[in-house]
Amino acid sequence: MSGPVLIFDSGVGGLSVARSLTSRHPDIPVCYACDNAWLPYGLRDDVTLSRRILAVCQAAVTACQASALVVACNTASTLALSGLRETLDIPVIGTVPAIKPAALASRTRHIGLLATRATVHRPYTQDLIERFASDCEVTKVAADALVTEAEAWLAGQRVDRARLQDALEPLWQAVIASRPLDTVVLGCTHFPLLKPVLETLAPRPLQWIDSGDAIARRVVDVMPHARGPQDGRSFTTADADHLVRGFEAFGFKAPHRLSLP
Ligand code: DGL
Repeated sequence: MSGPVLIFDSGVGGLSVARSLTSRHPDIPVCYACDNAWLPYGLRDDVTLSRRILAVCQAAVTACQASALVVACNTASTLALSGLRETLDIPVIGTVPAIKPAALASRTRHIGLLATRATVHRPYTQDLIERFASDCEVTKVAADALVTEAEAWLAGQRVDRARLQDALEPLWQAVIASRPLDTVVLGCTHFPLLKPVLETLAPRPLQWIDSGDAIARRVVDVMPHARGPQDGRSFTTADADHLVRGFEAFGFKAPHRLSLP
């Protein structure tokens, strides 16, 4: 194998995907890049964001000589996957909301989609719902506050439970509805980092579904020979001193600053 698998996100959310991948396949070398200068992606406009994603991913792929790119960000994937595939000459694996497994798992046929505002409104997401959950009621909740709370958590700060509770209120209303929601798609890679807190806030036990395991399987399908010594380099686009300990906890070294054209 010629280079590591690069995991990319706007911020620390991709670490949840890195965890899924490395816990199943510790012999796949991975490095990490995030565009923390532009975080959060979920509140950016589509045109400038897609240009930015291309520029940062190209720079990051070059910096670590990656042999494959995992776009560990639903907000970026639902916007820029085809552009990245046209531009880069390595395999590009995307992350999109796990609507299909959630629809398969739901008994009540009422599922929730918890994601950024951008992902909730993307045609790509609507298309997934029509294709895989047409017989389900889908409650979509834009919860961008969870992105900043996950960033704070990784930096070692206390999570603001009242802020989370406010953002999650529409979801909880659906949980106690006459046809109760029983399954939640974590459609943003930051959210699995908060899952232990989300579980304690939910009015009753729910099935929480994210895309981490599916991505780990996809990496192995696409790169069956991706084996080698661990890499662990990380790259950011802005100061990340506050993230060093969090990155280390997920197996990554202190980040280098990515130079952008
Ligand atoms: N982690 C990203 C996702 O999966 C989004 C976070 C952001 O808004 O930047 O959608």
